[in-house]
Amino acid sequence: MGCQYFAPSTHGADSFTVAMPRLTVGRGTLHELGERTAALSAKKVALFTDPYLLDGPLVAIAKDSLKKAGISFTIFSDIRVEPDDECVSRGAAFLQQTACEALVSVGGGSVIDAAKGSLVLHNQGGRVIDYLAPPIGGGKAITAPLLPHIACPTTSGTGSECTSISVLRINELNTKFVIAHPSLLPTLAIVDPQVCDSLPVNAIASTGFDLCCHALECYTARAYTQHEKIASPNSRQYIQGANPFSDIAAREAIQIVGQYLERGVNDASDTQARDQLMWGATLAGIAFGNSGTHLPHAMSYGITHLMADITTKGYPVKDPFVPHGISVIVTAPAIFRYTAEATPTRHLECAHLLGADDKGATADDAGEVLSKRLIHLMKATHMPNGISGIGFDKTHTTALANSSIRQGRAIANAPRDSNLVDLENLYGKALSYW
Ligand SMILES: [Fe+2]
Repeated sequence: MGCQYFAPSTHGADSFTVAMPRLTVGRGTLHELGERTAALSAKKVALFTDPYLLDGPLVAIAKDSLKKAGISFTIFSDIRVEPDDECVSRGAAFLQQTACEALVSVGGGSVIDAAKGSLVLHNQGGRVIDYLAPPIGGGKAITAPLLPHIACPTTSGTGSECTSISVLRINELNTKFVIAHPSLLPTLAIVDPQVCDSLPVNAIASTGFDLCCHALECYTARAYTQHEKIASPNSRQYIQGANPFSDIAAREAIQIVGQYLERGVNDASDTQARDQLMWGATLAGIAFGNSGTHLPHAMSYGITHLMADITTKGYPVKDPFVPHGISVIVTAPAIFRYTAEATPTRHLECAHLLGADDKGATADDAGEVLSKRLIHLMKATHMPNGISGIGFDKTHTTALANSSIRQGRAIANAPRDSNLVDLENLYGKALSYW
């Protein structure tokens, strides 16, 4: 159906599925948490958050709202940035002990993803690795419905409140993997842009590029009709490829990034820009939750795997750490230069929506025009200059490629096929841009 991009192919899928939680969006809506939770008939909930938010104003609003609605709660805050499988096991044990009727998550993607993973283990037991696809994991199926989950994001990037995936670090493999199943989709999402008013500049920038790449990757992803036809109606993977629905959300999100990212990062008082970025993050989450990301996200996993001696200024983290949005954007200009030849019209459209100077540009210029615009945004928001800006050099490109090649599904969602050598070359081209 739809345009030429979705033209039917002989062995390709002939349908796509759309899923999203019930969403409430608007300033001040975090105050509605209690009443919205009560409407789910939950009287006792687990409140998941992180140690940095625990004593702050957002958790205070959530607690107050739950109390006013007559809902009792117990708090679990032992969640690290970029949560790992051990943290999820602790979360599941907490749910077991407290016998709650629903879970409320208040936090960024780390908190929401840890909550999703904990709900799975609480329901079905085992370890996170059991649920990863073979050969890495045990391929254990997620079958039963999970407890209701009310997700309240506190950053404008992750989109996790709108997706059925949980990204978790598996300690024994020392890298991140994804658990995906429709039942991981939160029941409700409360998107209150007010929560971003006090976010530091570097968090707005990093999460803004996460949302930017979610949207760009969805819009340039392989069409769903180019993915294999599914064997049964319930076997569809969340990475189903670009489709007419994800296109709508992605296009709008890209435009929001082009118009508001610089403003939102460089002027903390610009609430219009920050509100728009929050909405853009939700839209981009809806987009990638229904199509899947591709190479920038796949290659970011190699970066977070191998960031041995790297920490990022401005984050209260002692361990080696590169914020997710930074790990994604540092390779994006090189990647879109590379993928443009597969879908030049879509790349050019992305550049236009992002506010690039595309006067007179032709299909042959698509990758360059889009990359140039991304580089401009990176410079204007003080991002590192490629992977060399976060401590890698050309001696690391082989190891980075060897790590990222394990993200097979995301790599296959790119519009252009890539092998190990291609990934190594892309890391080389992403060393620096200016
Ligand atoms: Fe992301």
